[in-house]
Amino acid sequence: MLLLDGKKLAQTIQAEIARDVQALHAATGVRPGLAAVLVGDNSASHLYVKNKRKACEQAEIASWLHALPGETTQFQLLDLVARLNADPQVHGILVQLPLPRQIEESAIIQAVSPDKDVDGFGVQSLGLLATGQPRFYPCTPLGVQQLLIRNGIPIAGRHVVVVGRSNIVGKPLALMLMGKGKEADATVTVCHSRTADVGYHTRQADIVVMAIGQARYLKGDMVKPGAVVVDVGTNRTPEGKWVGDVDFEAVSQVASAISPVPGGVGPMTITMLLYNTLQSARRVSG
Ligand SMILES: NC(=O)c1ccc[n+]([C@@H]2O[C@H](COP(=O)([O-])OP(=O)(O)OC[C@H]3O[C@@H](n4cnc5c(N)ncnc54)[C@H](OP(=O)(O)O)[C@@H]3O)[C@@H](O)[C@H]2O)c1
Repeated sequence: MLLLDGKKLAQTIQAEIARDVQALHAATGVRPGLAAVLVGDNSASHLYVKNKRKACEQAEIASWLHALPGETTQFQLLDLVARLNADPQVHGILVQLPLPRQIEESAIIQAVSPDKDVDGFGVQSLGLLATGQPRFYPCTPLGVQQLLIRNGIPIAGRHVVVVGRSNIVGKPLALMLMGKGKEADATVTVCHSRTADVGYHTRQADIVVMAIGQARYLKGDMVKPGAVVVDVGTNRTPEGKWVGDVDFEAVSQVASAISPVPGGVGPMTITMLLYNTLQSARRVSG
């Protein structure tokens, strides 16, 4: 059984990004820059942003933190986003979600310039992806795809079952893997909470991707022997342990390859944010 070690792969790719950042800077004088926006005092959000900025620092990507109080208004946040959109040093804007109740998340996501939407959450980014002319791939789906490709797992012609249809994971991942190209060209089935029998579908899959946020949902008898299983889920148990959507012990007896939680998709997601920021800087520097 092959362990899809996202932590190790993320380190390798981050070293490649650091090298490319240096080369871009040497050739053009442009240093990629990411502006992170954090509203309120959600401790998980603070940790996510801290980890993302640390990864930027290691890759020599400039990063700025805009930490705003929890009572910030939508108008104030839109004003900040407009300033970041206009700042030529900023190539990527990351607005950490969730936002406080008084702010409409979709209004903020849509306010981020499509040229700096390194999270790939905006309507334009998703529309471009859906029509086969992607600009920024959302980071978690891109991390999943890279985890497969860089572990030598073929995608083209295979049956992938994606469980979960959110706008940030399941839906864009399905679009990516069913797109044209040798790193895609899969036959994709998408399951969700209204799917009659999720196990019926996952048992048909060559590759299963779980992204539902239900601890240890996927059991060994829901997987075809030899299938590849990628676990996007992050769930906190009552004992304070992080587990995925996959029953790792049971499924690893059946699968040919499986990603762990933690140490699988999570580190890949952060790495793809750096990658998108580098791509954005490359676009503006010609
Ligand atoms: N590692 C990372 O970097 C990373 C990044 C993002 C998310 N995550 C994790 O990935 C998980 C999913 O995140 P998300 O943002 O996509 O979540 P989400 O917005 O809550 O969406 C969950 C999806 O799962 C479906 N679902 C829920 N229960 C189900 C069930 N019992 N059977 C089948 N489908 C079910 C929902 O169906 P409906 O549409 O019908 O409601 C929905 O489409 C979470 O654990 C999250 O923490 C991890």
